Amino acid sequence: MMALSLGMATQLASAQTVHYPAGKSTFDSKCAVCHQAGGKGMDGLAPPLIEYPGKYADSNEGRAQLGHTVLYGMFGPIKVRDKSYNFKMPSFAALSDAEIADVLNYVVFDANAQHGNAKPFDAAEIQALRANTLDASAVHQQRDAVVKGLGL
Ligand code: HEC
Repeated sequence: MMALSLGMATQLASAQTVHYPAGKSTFDSKCAVCHQAGGKGMDGLAPPLIEYPGKYADSNEGRAQLGHTVLYGMFGPIKVRDKSYNFKMPSFAALSDAEIADVLNYVVFDANAQHGNAKPFDAAEIQALRANTLDASAVHQQRDAVVKGLGL
C-alpha cells in the first residue's frame, strides 16, 4: 500500500518535472498574464513561446534576440507560423540578470520541446546584452533578421 502510493507520487512528479522552477515562478507572475500558462499564447494578444524561442536559443543572434526582447520589450507586427500579433511586449529591464536568465531557461528548456544544442542562459550572458541598449522597435527589426536567418 505504502510502496504503491510512493510509486504513484514519483510517477506524478516525473511527469511534471520543471527544470527551472525559479524561472517558472517569474514566468507565472510576470509573463503568463499575456503569454498564458506554459507559454501557449493567446490569439490577438501575445504570441505562443513554445516553438520559436527554442529555435532561437541555438544561435548567437537568436540568444541576443531573446535577451533583448525581455530587457527592452518589442513593438510592431510579428508572425509566428501563420498567425499575426501586434501588441506591445513591455520591458523587463528591472529584473535582475539572474531572473532574466532563469525565465528564459524556463521558456527554452521547459516550455519548448525542441531546443537543438542550446546551452542554458546565465547572468553573465544577460549582463553582456545590457551593453547594447535598444528600444522596442529596434528589437522588432532585429527579430525580422533572426527569423529570416533561421528560415522560420
Ligand atoms: C503585456 C503583455 C506581455 C507580457 C506581460 C509579456 N509579454 Fe512577451 N510578448 C508580448 C507581445 C504582444 C509580444 C509580441 C510583440 C510584437 O508584436 O512586436 C511578445 C513577444 C515575446 C517574445 C518574442 C517571441 C518571438 O517569437 O519572437 C518573447 C521571447 C517574450 N515575449 C517573452 C516574454 C517573457 C519571458 C515575459 C515575462 C518576463 C513576457 N514576454 C511578458 C506580450 C507580453
